Amino acid sequence: MRRFDGQTALITGASSGIGEASAWRLAREGARVVLAARGRERLEALAGRMREAGHEAEAVPTDVGDLGALAGLVARAVELGGGLDLLVNNAGVNHRGELERIAPEQLAQIVQVNLAAPIVLTRLALPHLRARRGAVVNVASLAGRIPVVHEATYSATKFGLRAFTFALAEELREAGVRVTVVSPGPVDTGFFDGHLDEVPDLVFSQPMSTADEIAELVIECAADGRVERMRPRLGGYLATLGYLLPSLRRVLLPTLERKGRAAKARYIASRRGAS
Ligand SMILES: NC(=O)c1ccc[n+]([C@@H]2O[C@H](COP(=O)([O-])OP(=O)(O)OC[C@H]3O[C@@H](n4cnc5c(N)ncnc54)[C@H](OP(=O)(O)O)[C@@H]3O)[C@@H](O)[C@H]2O)c1
Repeated sequence: MRRFDGQTALITGASSGIGEASAWRLAREGARVVLAARGRERLEALAGRMREAGHEAEAVPTDVGDLGALAGLVARAVELGGGLDLLVNNAGVNHRGELERIAPEQLAQIVQVNLAAPIVLTRLALPHLRARRGAVVNVASLAGRIPVVHEATYSATKFGLRAFTFALAEELREAGVRVTVVSPGPVDTGFFDGHLDEVPDLVFSQPMSTADEIAELVIECAADGRVERMRPRLGGYLATLGYLLPSLRRVLLPTLERKGRAAKARYIASRRGAS
C-alpha cells in the first residue's frame, strides 16, 4: 500500500522545479496528479511523460495570478479525481531589486501569485478537502522567516503565506484537514534563470538544495501534517533568530554576504559549465 493510493493531488507551478519533482513523487506513491502552470506545452509534455510511466496525470493550464480562473481549476481537479485530497500551492514568482525599480504591475503579480492565489485556492478546495480529511502544502521560503533586502515584496508574500498556514492549521485541526508549509533556502531550479546577477548574495549563504529534496518535504508534510518543514533547518532557525534580533543580524550580515558572494560565483560558474 502506497501512502497516496487512490488520492487526487492538485499541484500549482507543476511544470518545473519543485512542483514537477513533487508531482513525480506523489504519482510514484499512488496519487492521481492534476498539474497546473501557465505554459501549456511544457505542462502537457510532462503529463504525457507521467502517463507513459504508468501514472495518472492531467494538465490543466492555468495562470493562478488570474484569481477568477481558480474556481474552474479546482472544479476540473475534482471532476478528474472524483474529489480532492491534496492541494500543493507551489507556483511562485519574484522580481528582484529596489522597490522603485520594479513596475507596480510586477509587484501586484508577486502578491497575486504567491499569496492571494494560495489563499483563494485553499478556500475553494476546502469543502472537498474536508470531505476527504485531506491536506494543503504551501511552498514558502526562508525569505518568509527573515526579510530579504531587494526582495521586500517576495519576502512579504512568503511571511504572509506562513502566517496563513499557521492560523489555518489551528482553525482546521479538529476538522482533520492538515495545513502545512515548506520553507526552502536556495534550490537549484530555473527560479533564478536570467536573473542570477540580481539575486542577493545573502540567498547563497545557505547550502543549495535540489528540487527533489524539497519535494520530499512536501510529501512528508502532506502525509503527517507537521505544520512546517524547512531546509536547511539550521539556516531556518538562524533566519528566525536574525529576524527577532535585528542587531545580531546586522553583526552577522557581512560574513553571510561574503560567504554567499563566493557561493554565488561558484554556482554561476557551474551553471555556465553545465550549459
Ligand atoms: N528556487 C529557489 O531557490 C526557491 C527557494 C525558496 C522558495 N522557492 C519557491 O518554490 C516555488 C517553486 O519554485 P521553483 O524553484 O520550483 O521555480 P521554477 O522551477 O521556476 O518553477 C516555477 C513554476 O511555477 C509556475 N508558475 C509561475 N507563475 C505562475 C502562474 N502565474 N500561474 C501558474 N503557474 C505559475 C511555472 O510555470 P509557468 O511559467 O509555465 O507558469 C513553474 O511551473 C515558488 O513558490 C518559489 O517561491 C524557490
